[in-house]
Amino acid sequence: MTPRHGVSRTIRTQVAIVGAGPAGLTLACLLAGAGIESVVLENRSRAYVEERIRAGVLEQGTVEVLDAAGVGERLHREGIVHHGIYLQFAGERHRIPLSELADGRNIVIYGQTEVVKDLIQARLDAGLALRFEVDGVRVHEIETDRPRVTFAHQGERFELECDVIAGTDGFHGVCRPAIEEHLRVFSRDYPFAWLGILAAAPPSSDELVYAHHERGFALLSLRSLDRSRLYLQCAADERLDAWPDARIWDELQRRVALEGWTLVEGAVLEKGIAPMRSFVSEPMAHGRLFLAGDSAHIVPPTGAKGLNLAIADVSVLAEALVDWYRTGSDAGLAEYSATCLRRVWRAEQFSYWMTSMLHRPGDDPFEDQLQLSQLRYIVSSEAAARTLAENYVGLPLDHSRAQASVVRGA
Ligand code: FAD
Ligand code: PHB
Repeated sequence: MTPRHGVSRTIRTQVAIVGAGPAGLTLACLLAGAGIESVVLENRSRAYVEERIRAGVLEQGTVEVLDAAGVGERLHREGIVHHGIYLQFAGERHRIPLSELADGRNIVIYGQTEVVKDLIQARLDAGLALRFEVDGVRVHEIETDRPRVTFAHQGERFELECDVIAGTDGFHGVCRPAIEEHLRVFSRDYPFAWLGILAAAPPSSDELVYAHHERGFALLSLRSLDRSRLYLQCAADERLDAWPDARIWDELQRRVALEGWTLVEGAVLEKGIAPMRSFVSEPMAHGRLFLAGDSAHIVPPTGAKGLNLAIADVSVLAEALVDWYRTGSDAGLAEYSATCLRRVWRAEQFSYWMTSMLHRPGDDPFEDQLQLSQLRYIVSSEAAARTLAENYVGLPLDHSRAQASVVRGA
């Protein structure tokens, strides 16, 4: 192969994967299991990708996909299974028995950092292509059947020829902008953000606590039996240096206070502010470029859906690619975007609903009363609690079709 101008080496693979987050790495493992070759390109270092603290709640369906990708072993050993969550408001804490309400399904607490570490280790153990710290990734000729990705790595310019490109490069990546003119974008910004900490403290509650409070939302989560993960609603333009550790603990103590119960404090190991955004770009594919995960959609974290959606996308994409390579049928690829978007919009609605119900949008007593009424309804009506539970544990991939048949009485 003669390299093109400015390119020192041309390489060839079946699927080029841009971005080594949970979406790209899971796709690579699923494809490898089916004998499909891929190259994963990541612009950050391995250490950066492995230490980036984000999500912590895995739906059962996500665990099943990670099992299928061959990376479930440590997850089953160290992950903590939960069967419920608490909603706290008006000074009381109420348990929502997720598994009882949602057909026995559960959630597993296992940090995104750990999922990413497991996926990277599996990839490297298998001796498969995964390049960190690449530069200047660009996608080309995606409307042809010979798309290419160009990039620089360790001082050399490469051209990666492939059949298909997976754009799993997150919200700030280069893949979605490359097809911007073909996309319709839907978005919503929120007038608040989350300040999150990781603390060297055992979790104070046996299950997650989502707290509605007049001073703003708070969430108690965990990563392990000696690490708590806690969040506070803060202003969208909040500065981290305005929040020394003592102020964070003081605010958490006020928002989650409950008689006869104490929030255990500990050293703050990490803290950061995450913006809240809803975003969907449609369709999730153009030509031979397929977007998956945060590159195509973002949800506010209140529903714990971001990571789970990313994994659901790539399980649909992997299945469609396997079918295409094995039978030549492109039916799955043609349906990829529509199949994913049904689930994406369900998660968008659920995340928006949880966010609107639990956060203080400003000084609006009317909104406050609506939120409290909705929360009271959830803890007093099994139908309302079931709606929350079904969505929280994650609906099956083809839920839209299943629901249509329930309505027809089929
Ligand atoms: P990412 O994890 O974003 O992975 C994309 C990868 O592509 C990254 O490694 C990035 O470095 C790489 N990349 C980007 N540009 C390029 C390029 N040009 N070339 C090569 N590589 C590139 N979800 C929850 O459910 N709960 C939470 O608490 C939560 N907290 C979050 C906090 C923050 C600050 C953020 C940003 C997200 C959070 N999320 C949370 C969402 C969840 O973490 C994401 O939905 C999930 O990471 C999506 O996975 P992904 O693989 O699609 O994208
Ligand atoms: C987390 O543990 O980081 C977490 C849990 C639940 C959420 C969001 C984040 O809704």
